[in-house]
Amino acid sequence: MATDSATASRGQWSTRGGFILAAAGSAVGLGNIWKFPYITGENGGGLFVLIYLVCIALIGLPIMIGELIIGRRAQRSPVGAFQKLRGEQTAWRIIGWMGVLAGFIILSYYSVVAGWTMNYVLMALTRFFSGKSPEEIGSAFGTLYTAWDINLFWHAAFMLTTIGIVLGGIKKGIEAWSRILMPALFLMMLVLLVDAVLQPGFGRAASFVFSPNADKLTPQGVLEALGHSFFTLSLGMGALLTYGSYLSKDRDLVGSSALISGLDTLVALAACLILFPIIFSQGMAAEAGPGLVFKSMPIAFSKMTGGVLLSILFFVLLFFAALSSAISLLEVVASSFIDQLDWTRRRAVLVTGSMIFLFGVPSALAGSGKLFPAWEKLVGKNFFDTFDYLASNWLLPLGGLAIAIFVGWVMPDDERREEFTRGSKLGALYPVWLVSVRFVAPIAITLLWLFSVEILPKHWLAPSGPGGH
Ligand code: TRP
Repeated sequence: MATDSATASRGQWSTRGGFILAAAGSAVGLGNIWKFPYITGENGGGLFVLIYLVCIALIGLPIMIGELIIGRRAQRSPVGAFQKLRGEQTAWRIIGWMGVLAGFIILSYYSVVAGWTMNYVLMALTRFFSGKSPEEIGSAFGTLYTAWDINLFWHAAFMLTTIGIVLGGIKKGIEAWSRILMPALFLMMLVLLVDAVLQPGFGRAASFVFSPNADKLTPQGVLEALGHSFFTLSLGMGALLTYGSYLSKDRDLVGSSALISGLDTLVALAACLILFPIIFSQGMAAEAGPGLVFKSMPIAFSKMTGGVLLSILFFVLLFFAALSSAISLLEVVASSFIDQLDWTRRRAVLVTGSMIFLFGVPSALAGSGKLFPAWEKLVGKNFFDTFDYLASNWLLPLGGLAIAIFVGWVMPDDERREEFTRGSKLGALYPVWLVSVRFVAPIAITLLWLFSVEILPKHWLAPSGPGGH
């Protein structure tokens, strides 16, 4: 296929499989294995999972297709994509810059948690957990969380690893590493899942995850499900738009999107089916919050036969998932500097990567309370939570809304139809998808977003729910 020289110098995925693995690597991350199980636990299981699945199918999947359509059509990262499709001075380029900002913010704190996973890989390898009491394991997490120097060290180590991979470019960096990380991740997940099925708590865990139970679900939980469906699929900030820009014209976008979101959902459900049987078998609670992975799991491993090996597999898995997501976040920021400012990849990755590291320092120090303790008193959240709130509740839903409107109402019909149908057996679904990006997704996002920032009262969402008054 003939490609123009600009496209050739930007790089392209070598195969469809490489693209799928890289995109799935972006989607599958801490969101699936760390966050999804604990918010499922906090929201009481089944019904929350059901709402999350509906959000993925009705809102997430159509927007994912939309992002890939824009990216492949324009063959640019977010800012340049809107300019190429609507003209240099288009106001839509603001949406592109908003995406770059979101990537910047998300990676800055994502890297801090990802750094913890590196620390835990080391603890697992050195058999730190065996023979320790639950109190000792719990307080080890507390020590890590509050030690500013350890946090800074791992934050730096993780950013350096991410920078090293993205420096290699599309084929030799991101795609090559995704081809190693993702199959390894799926394999480790399978081993852990087989072990989980053999645990006595598996039956209870499966019914916790799959049988709808409204007891604990609050209106906030419904919003959390929507926000999380964006976060987990890497939507709303142009990450998949950027990955789509490296995709050649003859690949099937719709089938790829279904595969990527299907894999992401499977991993999230599998993570629940790995964690909860172990947690329940050891008589622990599902609603342990963010500590579920870093406290409850090591406690459980310390009591299990084969716990050392399982703990190594589990934390390496978590680290791989975090790394393959982080490279997509850095790629969006770096590629925007490459496309917009004509920087070399080397310069763009080193400069933006260092800036993100510096921007993440307040998050790395959040647990120690050392930096600006007044911030927490003023805003009511530490830096880490402030950034997560800003990105998940504002930037991603607004970005997703803008992308749905752009692709549904602004892009010429022949262009988007061509991108949707080419090479796809699912081309007949075009009208269904169009209704979704034009109406269903924008209306649903707007309503839920109005609730989430409390412009509309939350108890409207679930008037009879327990948290509804
Ligand atoms: N999806 C990843 C996760 O679940 C995180 C992530 C990577 C992301 N790239 C993104 C989130 C882009 C939002 C936007 O952990």
